[in-house]
Formats: sequence, C-alpha cells, structure tokens
Amino acid sequence: MNDPFANEAIAAIAAASELDESTVRQLLTVPPKEEMGEFALPCFTLAKQFRKNPVTIATELAVAIDVGESFAAVEAVGPYVNFKVDRSRFASHVLDQVRSAGSSYGSLDQGAGKTLVVDFSSPNLAKPFSIAHLRSTAIGNAIYRIHRFLGWQCVGINHLGDYGANFGQLLAAYQIWGDPEQVAADPVPELVALYTRFNQELEADPGLQEEARSRLRKLAAGDEEMVSLWRYFIDEGRKEAERVYAILDVHFDDSTGESHYAEALQEVVGAFDGKGLAVESEGALIVDLEEWEMAPCMLRTSNGTSTYHSRDIAALIDRERKYGFDKMVYVTDVRQSLHFRQVFKAVELLGVDWVERCHHAPFGMLSFKGANLSTRKGNMVFLEEVLDQAVELTREIIDEKNPDLEGKEAIARQVGISAVVFADLDSRRTRDVVFEWEEILNFDGETGPYLQYTHARFCSILRRFTQAEGDAAAVIAAADPGLLTEDAELRVVRQLEQYPLRLQQAGDELEPSYLSTYLIELATVANKFYNELPVLSGPGAELVAARVALVDGVRTVLRSGLDLLGMNAPEAM
Ligand code: ARG
Repeated sequence: MNDPFANEAIAAIAAASELDESTVRQLLTVPPKEEMGEFALPCFTLAKQFRKNPVTIATELAVAIDVGESFAAVEAVGPYVNFKVDRSRFASHVLDQVRSAGSSYGSLDQGAGKTLVVDFSSPNLAKPFSIAHLRSTAIGNAIYRIHRFLGWQCVGINHLGDYGANFGQLLAAYQIWGDPEQVAADPVPELVALYTRFNQELEADPGLQEEARSRLRKLAAGDEEMVSLWRYFIDEGRKEAERVYAILDVHFDDSTGESHYAEALQEVVGAFDGKGLAVESEGALIVDLEEWEMAPCMLRTSNGTSTYHSRDIAALIDRERKYGFDKMVYVTDVRQSLHFRQVFKAVELLGVDWVERCHHAPFGMLSFKGANLSTRKGNMVFLEEVLDQAVELTREIIDEKNPDLEGKEAIARQVGISAVVFADLDSRRTRDVVFEWEEILNFDGETGPYLQYTHARFCSILRRFTQAEGDAAAVIAAADPGLLTEDAELRVVRQLEQYPLRLQQAGDELEPSYLSTYLIELATVANKFYNELPVLSGPGAELVAARVALVDGVRTVLRSGLDLLGMNAPEAM
C-alpha cells in the first residue's frame, strides 16, 4: 500500500504506537467489507509486545491515533482499528490522478532500466497451430504488454518449433505417401494430415521410426533434398502462424527458430565438457541431474543430433548475451515444467549467476466442452476455426441484441476474438480451462464481452453528454470530483485507485488473471453506480460534471486494461 492516504494512516499509527513505519506498513490491510472503511490495522500480533489483549490495544490506539483531514473516522471494532477516508478528498485525489495521467494512468516506472525477455507462443511448425499455443500466445502477450506499460524494455520471442523429431516424421510421411500437387494446393491441412497419418501408422509399423530418424540425420547433415523440403514445410507453417498472429494482433521482436540453435550443439557440449559435466550414456550425451531428483538433461542423442534441451540451453545463453535480461520468462503448458527445471539446473551447473532471473510461467490445459467444432483432418482442432466460430456466434448475438449496430461485422470480430483471449486469461494461469461457447460469450457473465460492453456503455454515456452539452473534455477537466461521496461512487473510486497496484502484482507474479479479475470488479461496481445513480440527469450541473468525470475515469481504465490483455475495446456494441 503506497498511496498518500495509506501513508498518512501509517505515519499516524506509528506516531501513536511507537511502532516503526515499516512494521505498520506490513500489518495494514484492506478490510473485507466496505462498511469497515478503506484500511484496517489488525492488532493480534501486537499483543505480546504491548502485553495487552488485541481488543484493548485497538480501543486505545483508536483514541490515540491522530489523523489529519484525509480521514473521516478512525474506529476500533473488536481487535481491529478501521480507517475511513474522507470521501471527498479521496475522490478528488484519485480522479485527479486518472485525469492527469489519462491513458497512461497506472503505468509506473517500476521497470525503468530493466529488460524482460518473454518466450511465448512458440508453436511447432510440423503440427497444426494448437489450442495450447493459443493460450501461450494470449498469456505471453499479456505479460509482455503489462511489463511494457510498467516501464520495462520488453523483448518478445517466438521460439518457433522448426526443428526436431517431428520434422523427421513429416519428411518421411511426405516422401512415402505425399502427393506434391495435392500438398501444394492446400499445404497446411495436407501436411497436418500426413503428419497425423505417420503417427497413426507408427503403431502398427514401428519400422517407420527409422524412416523418420534417418531423414532427420540427413537434414542435420545438410542434405540438400531434406533441407529444401524442410524449408518448404516451415515456410508454410510460418505463414499459417502469421495469419493467426494477424487475427490476434500479436507481434514478436524476435522469431529465430529452434533450428538456429541446432548449430550451436558443439558450443553447448563444449561448455559442459569443459566443466566435466557431460557424461556418455547409451551413446547419448547427458548432464546427470540425479542429485536434484530429475531425469538427466540430454545434450546430444545417440544419433549425434541436438535435442530440445540443448537447443534451449543454446538459446538461453544467446539471449543472456544479447539482452542481458533482468527477467526471462517462458510461457508453456505445465507439461514442460520438468523440461525447464532441467534446463535451468544444467545452466546453473555451468556456474552462471543469472539463471535465477529465469522463470517458467506454466499454464493449465484447455479443452472444449461438448466440442462441436468441425475438424478438417484427424481430430485436431484448428485454431483459426475456433476463432471463426467465435466471430460467427458473436455475430448471431449482436443480430439479436442490436441488429442496427453500425459496423456490425468488424465489431463481431473484435468481440468474438477478444472473448476467446479473455477466456484464456480470466482464471489463474495454472488452472485448467474448459471452453464453453455459451459461457465465454455471455454478455452478462464474467466475460470479455461483458467488459467490452461496459466500456462501450460508458463511451456512449460520454457521447450522449457531448451531444447535449458540447465539449465533454472541458467539463471533465473542470469538474469537482470532491462531490462524489455516495456509497456507489466511493466503490468506483476505490476500484480506480487500486489499478496501479493490481497491475504491478500481475506483472510481478506473471499472472494476467489479476488484471482480468480487477477489470471484472471494476465493470461490476461501475455498472452498479450507473444503475443506482442518475448521471446525465443528476441533480445540478456540478454533480453531473463530477459523475461524468467518474464515467470517463472508468472508461479510461477499462480501455487501458483491455488493451493490456490484448483485447479490443470497441466504442459501441
Ligand atoms: N515449441 C514448443 C512446444 O510447442 C514450445 C517452445 C517453448 N519455448 C522454449 N524455449 N522451449 O512444445
């Protein structure tokens, strides 16, 4: 807690109790119920020191604490001392901050001079762009945007899976069964079908594995035919991925594929060898991690090719050299947790001190409830089809709710796609997510469309004000937010005040869901305010102006938050 009101309460408590300010800061909390005020000091842990029971301590402190004009009341309730702000001063303070910062309200210089590298999305180009990669894309993009807003220098890396065993399989499938013309006509689905067939036939015919391995060896050795086919496959895969990124409006600063790091195999092996850490095991070369109760980290296969581990180690060392990051984050599903622990431990054994700045931000699995998704080939879910379906269902809802909406098609796209993005971000990262269209697209639920709808609603209030009264900006600038003292107004002001803190927590814990939850809370109290109190027809021009300023504050923060989550914020819906 760091706002001037908290600071004032802390100073007053310290003066009355002879506790030092940092102790008080740690103790001070936000009470669970709004009628208890804005801050509370729990006195339980003070009992020992003061040799009194917590209720007595609270009662005595409440009398002794001398706060200034920022507070309207300091009261003992059981073992707590509760602080109630002076509503008028509080509203003025918060809205002045929002008004003066505008769209940069909440951005701190917390990250000034620091660099974040975030490795996200990173699909495997031999396979279809999967739902898991959609989650990684949405979560990684939000982590990137939140940090950038907080002042970090950000590098977004797409560690494209353009190398490895999958490509051996795809090369084999293409050469054994592929019809080049058919593939050329519709590359991605055809290649996916070949890849799927390979894996199906493998069960009956394990000999196929050697077909894949031998081709991978040839590829690694630079065989011309293999290299040119592989180029063709990854070009098509990249194009497919680019299409998805364009739909989602996601960008990367660096899209060096994994293959680039296959070339660094000698360097990686050399580094571990030099420290006596590379051990031969059944023809392969490994780093033994038994002491840490992990399976070994394999640097080189018995075929002499690089591994997912060695490529990641090479990439990590390269990134540290290039960017000298303060924080390096990998966003993948939980099944890769062991992989990253192995990579981090192996790098740590090389004796570097920066490995503690590396984090894996794992996320839970995503599935479809009553999956009625069409699938063109195999039982793979094509991401583009998911997004298309979201748009189509949204179009139906808009047709029903607001058939005359101008620019309906574009808005259906913005809402449908953002709904899917929000569904990826609205619960704790590590929880599994079950997609259900009805739930995700419910305009009244805790959903993306609900947030967008609230934003559009508040935009429309401002439009109507402008139509009736002229320049809203001038009125907002001149308004006196000190008039906002109703419960419903205070709730909104409190929520606006929380924005910077919650963003910072979301960044620190790599948890975009803190922001999504915050925005749902904000939309809820804001709608409640609008339903309970008249805004445009409020009593008196001054109160109307103050309420319009509050509406504008809500609109500003909703828009900012939606943007940080990688969502659109249409102004009408
Ligand atoms: N391509 C990998 C997969 O789909 C994810 C890569 C994540 N990033 C990394 N540096 N390993 O499983």
